[in-house]
Amino acid sequence: MQTASDADYGYLRQLVFGLSQNVLDPSRDYLFETRLSKLLRNQGMTHLEELVQHLRIRKNPPLERAIAEAMTINETSFFRDSRPFELLRTELLPKLIEARRSTRSLRFWSAACSTGQEAYSLGMLMREHFHLIADWNIRIEGTDICAEVVEQAQAANYCRIEMNRGLPARFVVRYFDRMGENWVVKSEVRKMCNFRQANLCGPSLPFNRSTDRFDAIFLRNVMLYFSQETRRTLLSNIHRMLAPDGILFLGSSEQPADPSLWTSKLAGGTCYLKPRQPS
Ligand SMILES: C[S@@+](CC[C@H](N)C(=O)[O-])C[C@H]1O[C@@H](n2cnc3c(N)ncnc32)[C@H](O)[C@@H]1O
Repeated sequence: MQTASDADYGYLRQLVFGLSQNVLDPSRDYLFETRLSKLLRNQGMTHLEELVQHLRIRKNPPLERAIAEAMTINETSFFRDSRPFELLRTELLPKLIEARRSTRSLRFWSAACSTGQEAYSLGMLMREHFHLIADWNIRIEGTDICAEVVEQAQAANYCRIEMNRGLPARFVVRYFDRMGENWVVKSEVRKMCNFRQANLCGPSLPFNRSTDRFDAIFLRNVMLYFSQETRRTLLSNIHRMLAPDGILFLGSSEQPADPSLWTSKLAGGTCYLKPRQPS
């Protein structure tokens, strides 16, 4: 297979960074060939050089966005890393529910939601264990930069391999309908969730920093692709959008850029609260 030049790869890496802030390592340049093969075919092109040459001559924002989206890593699963969900069930949600008794509303954000399993896991967890809040106003917002995964999240449609990862058998029976070879999340959980495409690092955030407040934000397994500076800016925005008693979840290999803004809740990280303000 004909490979692109270092300059072409450099151009593509820079393009991806500019649009999604994802930092791609040159040692993984080969991924451009596989991930962009469908896009090349759709453009009637056979080699990456043609694509780069085309973009160098004429800017093409939709095509550039499609390249950045195709290079994202969308790995996810139901109840991924189980511990955060366990802590939510046993301790964090009971406290939040008690604190929101008067407003009877809870709002969550699955930032970088991929194909939606994180958001639906949270919805199923609440349905299964917290009957008291069945008639509360509960919103789970899911956002991701990649249009294709957001479409799957909205369709709530999962294949056997996806269903076999992390989902207790009784949840399959209770919260999914069989549709041909696949399974679709039942409407009682789907109606809690809302998905849309949004860039966490674009000129404007998916939500309003001054007015939107979340009780918990899942920012898991996405910051590892960002530069230190991008992480710092994003986490300071996220900090502002969390309720004073809100919860931040990160992936198991991620830490807050500015530890003074957060108190770790789980040994080994992944769950953070805002430090209490002196009264
Ligand atoms: C590895 S998945 C993590 C999914 C889920 N949070 C989890 O932990 O299972 C990372 C997701 O981040 C998304 N992503 C990457 N850069 C992004 C950006 N700048 N804005 C929003 N989403 C982004 C990717 O499209 C991908 O779906």
